[in-house]
Amino acid sequence: MIPIARPLIGAEEEAAVLAVLRSGQLAAGEQVELFERRFAEVCQVREAVAVANGTAALHLALLAHGIGPGDEVITSPLSFAATGNTILLVGAKPVFVDIEPDTYNIDPELVEAAITPRTKAIMPVHLYGNPADMRRLAVIAEVHGLAIIEDACQAHGATIDGRPMGSFGTGCFSFYATKNITTGEGGMLTTNDHALADSLRLLRSHGQRERYYHIALGYNLRLTNIQAALGVVQVGKLQQLNEQRIENAAYLTERLQGVVPTPVTRPGHRHIYHQYTIRVPGDREAFAAALRERGVGSAVHYPLPIHKQPFYQEQGFDCSLPIAEEAARQVLSLPVHPALSEADLAIVAREVRALCR
Ligand SMILES: Cc1ncc(COP(=O)(O)O)c(C=O)c1O
Repeated sequence: MIPIARPLIGAEEEAAVLAVLRSGQLAAGEQVELFERRFAEVCQVREAVAVANGTAALHLALLAHGIGPGDEVITSPLSFAATGNTILLVGAKPVFVDIEPDTYNIDPELVEAAITPRTKAIMPVHLYGNPADMRRLAVIAEVHGLAIIEDACQAHGATIDGRPMGSFGTGCFSFYATKNITTGEGGMLTTNDHALADSLRLLRSHGQRERYYHIALGYNLRLTNIQAALGVVQVGKLQQLNEQRIENAAYLTERLQGVVPTPVTRPGHRHIYHQYTIRVPGDREAFAAALRERGVGSAVHYPLPIHKQPFYQEQGFDCSLPIAEEAARQVLSLPVHPALSEADLAIVAREVRALCR
């Protein structure tokens, strides 16, 4: 079976982790600081703050921006549930706005109409590694005095005109095992605002600047040196891993264009293909099962938009977002990761074409 994802961990990662294990410094320390500096460079920002996972990054970003009960945050319904859940966790209300049918990202055209006096932030998601329309969203945020919290959990190294995701607002990243670079579990926040970074560091570690002196209320959402050692090696490979994904995606698009709807990227946007997602207008589950029988793994990101999740229905989210809802019925992600051989890619393209005939 050609898997939908596979982390590429080599001898360098093994050596880095082993060195930490032998050092005795397992909890947060030098490796975490080094990982933060390297990641800040990649994102072209002044500060990066490592945390336990992407969900923690989103959660702490909302808290550090002072968002809480009575506030609204405009976001995309087609995402992993953490996007909406973290807004609920701080006591605020997620306001879901429909997506563009081709990029699957939040439609900036619809954002302005969703702004109310309670709106505090826009949380765009760069879904599948494809940048949301940050040029227009940045203007809207500026005009209305809103914060931008980027859910860049799938978009490490994605850019618009060379400017990285995570540098348009407060960036939130995940290093979960299937992401373009991984620490097993892990997360990162990026910002140019030193005061915000300071708040994030306090929230991350029980409000301590100095050990056992607590000047604020916080959590324990730290990353370990073991994870960070993996991250330092992985972040050094990010460009190369992304290039391989982009090349793999180009290979698939060349063979699938005109057969099925393939990924769409806006001019100047660098899509880093965390996922390569097509649309299957017919019986998607039968299509995925047939692919599996032919040795090709696939996955659905996501079968239900967030506002249609059972928990959100219970909470009374009864909005209708037809473009996201149709996408959720049709999207199917194919293997595109850098561990694929050309023979694997040929099989993926051949079997998808055969099933579309
Ligand atoms: C778009 C999106 N947002 C948030 C998250 C949450 O990240 P994590 O799983 O590291 O908590 C993920 C990753 O799974 C994601 O893909």
